[in-house]
Amino acid sequence: MESISVTADSGESITISPENMGDMVAFMSRYACAIMEVETKFNVLNAQFNASKSYNPIDTIKTRLKTPESIVEKLRRRGLPLTTQAAEDNLTDVAGVRVICPFVEDIYLLADYLLMQDDVELLEKKDYIAKPKGNGYRSLHLIVQTPVFTPQGKTLVKVEIQLRTIAMEFWANLEHRLRYKKGLDPELLEDLGGELRECADICESLDQRMGGIRRKIEATTTLLDAADKEWQ
Ligand code: GTP
Ligand code: MG
Repeated sequence: MESISVTADSGESITISPENMGDMVAFMSRYACAIMEVETKFNVLNAQFNASKSYNPIDTIKTRLKTPESIVEKLRRRGLPLTTQAAEDNLTDVAGVRVICPFVEDIYLLADYLLMQDDVELLEKKDYIAKPKGNGYRSLHLIVQTPVFTPQGKTLVKVEIQLRTIAMEFWANLEHRLRYKKGLDPELLEDLGGELRECADICESLDQRMGGIRRKIEATTTLLDAADKEWQ
């Protein structure tokens, strides 16, 4: 087998020798499996909500495995050795799972249901909903560790979970496009950043109002349901 070269977007590259190839493949595979484990946990919750309630707090589940190219780039950026060991020790976002919910309260409900599972260990929580970033970014981030069983035994693998509303996802996707757009006029960039900042406030107020309407509907439904039962 020949060596292969992995080139990051920045043009930097590392050469993976045949001896290291197996290590690299096993490394990527562990993270792919950890994604499957966490995605399954949300799919199981989804199935249970579908079976037991008319309302489901999960809209969409998305997953992404970081490419070897961006792993290399991030390790280089942080001045770390370009090894799978360094990636394992220092990167928390090789495996990513994103759960998109209709309402803000769904996010905290799902986080609680996930974290009460005894094979999920919370390593870090960043609540950018309670405390949004300066640019307006909101989401709940959890770094968890979960076991993956391999023929060599059990390994604990880190997964980054992002929980956000449909409005937060809409905003973050557009902001992400602006962030990675190259060659934009700096003045235009600043204007668009300002507009996005305003849109973030609109998204936040939309989330709050939609949540308020939903709570009122639910309160009414419960009363009507109770009335229905009385008449039977
Ligand atoms: P990296 O940004 O990945 O180096 O890690 P970090 O330690 O800064 O973690 P953080 O929790 O801030 O961000 C992790 C991920 O959340 C990012 O890779 C994005 O997917 C998402 N994210 C964080 N901040 C923003 C933001 O301002 N805009 C958008 N669109 N996404 C963001
Ligand atoms: Mg960051």
